[in-house]
Amino acid sequence: MLRNKNIVLCVTGGIAAFKAVSVASQLVKLGANVDVIMTENAQKFVTPLTFRSITKTAVITDMFEEPRDMEIAHISLAQKADAFLICPATANIIGKIASGIADDMVSTTVMATRAPVLICPAMNTNMYENPIVQGNIKKLKELGYSFLQPDSGRLACGTEGKGRLPEPDEIVAWVVGEIAREKDLSELKVLVTAGPTREAIDPVRYISNGSTGKMGYAVANAAALRGSKVTLVSGPVDIEPPSGVQVVNVTSAEDMYRAVMELESEYDIIVMSAAVGDFRPEAAADNKIKKSAGTPEIRLVPNPDILAELGRRRRRRVLVGFCMETRDLLENAAKKLESKNADIIVANDLNTPGAGFGTDTNVVTMLFRDGREKLELRDTKAAIADVILTKAAETLSAK
Ligand code: CTP
Repeated sequence: MLRNKNIVLCVTGGIAAFKAVSVASQLVKLGANVDVIMTENAQKFVTPLTFRSITKTAVITDMFEEPRDMEIAHISLAQKADAFLICPATANIIGKIASGIADDMVSTTVMATRAPVLICPAMNTNMYENPIVQGNIKKLKELGYSFLQPDSGRLACGTEGKGRLPEPDEIVAWVVGEIAREKDLSELKVLVTAGPTREAIDPVRYISNGSTGKMGYAVANAAALRGSKVTLVSGPVDIEPPSGVQVVNVTSAEDMYRAVMELESEYDIIVMSAAVGDFRPEAAADNKIKKSAGTPEIRLVPNPDILAELGRRRRRRVLVGFCMETRDLLENAAKKLESKNADIIVANDLNTPGAGFGTDTNVVTMLFRDGREKLELRDTKAAIADVILTKAAETLSAK
């Protein structure tokens, strides 16, 4: 699966460094050529000899004490690499990369590469949640570095929480997914909306819906992995943004409308997976509404329909809408395809088990503008995201 892929495994100093041994071994078994670079601290947890025995290649441990033929090892490794994997990655190495510091073999080589860099953070929970570390991760994600979320559980320091390095099998599966992917959509710009919107009633109350953003985030992630330039306009959600995706955070439907209209003309595919609120209170109260004033009457007014407006702005591009219903799914989906002038509608019935808000799976029917095809899918949101993108790209090339 990874035959002839050159992977540079950078091991930094954390107790989880021992798991990197098993990661190296599995990567070798999958056919990869693995070069290992260890920081000084990493060598306090595992010896270079362990990695050398597995990879059958000299382990690089020091910038200046290398053998002669590896004199500019950090440049040659950086160039030949198909991917870098930093596992485990300490707060320190993440901070160095984010700040442009190159003062050891790992940070120098990572700085010199154009290959994808995959980072597996592992550290104490408080460190992981420290806003400085989170800020560094956010910055690097926006620059296209990929991160594997740490697991939660009992940590070496005796505390419970997020920060554990996931098991080697999971790390390797992630690496394969990230680098064995074909960059078949690298010519395309994809705009995705996701999550709910919030329509303010007063400064503390709002009208919203149960969308978690999972489907839209899966689409944005899949498009980025397939090489597209991706912007994600997201309502308030609780999930980490995917790597390599530019995120524009919005709150209300009107915010989302403005953000999308400002961007739309540049994009080849627009996927409207957001659950946009159809109505908002006519006016949000300036101050918290008090109970003592009696039960308020809230008059609602319609929000702009983003997809319908995009449908009116005709261009050579593909518009994908979603349609969530609790009854008459296909009739309603066909009507929306027409009324919103969309190219594809992805319809799901909220009453179907495994479909809808919050789940990792979905059950959808895709309807196409020319009416010829109906595609039924029951799969993970990640897999469905890939089909949506493939179909959207096919539709675009037929235009
Ligand atoms: N949508 C939108 N702007 C809105 C409402 C919906 O862009 N104000 C988009 C959604 O992102 C989705 C599609 O339109 O891609 C259909 O959304 P849905 O809520 O199913 O349909 P509505 O148009 O809201 O119609 P209804 O609520 O009457 O079913």
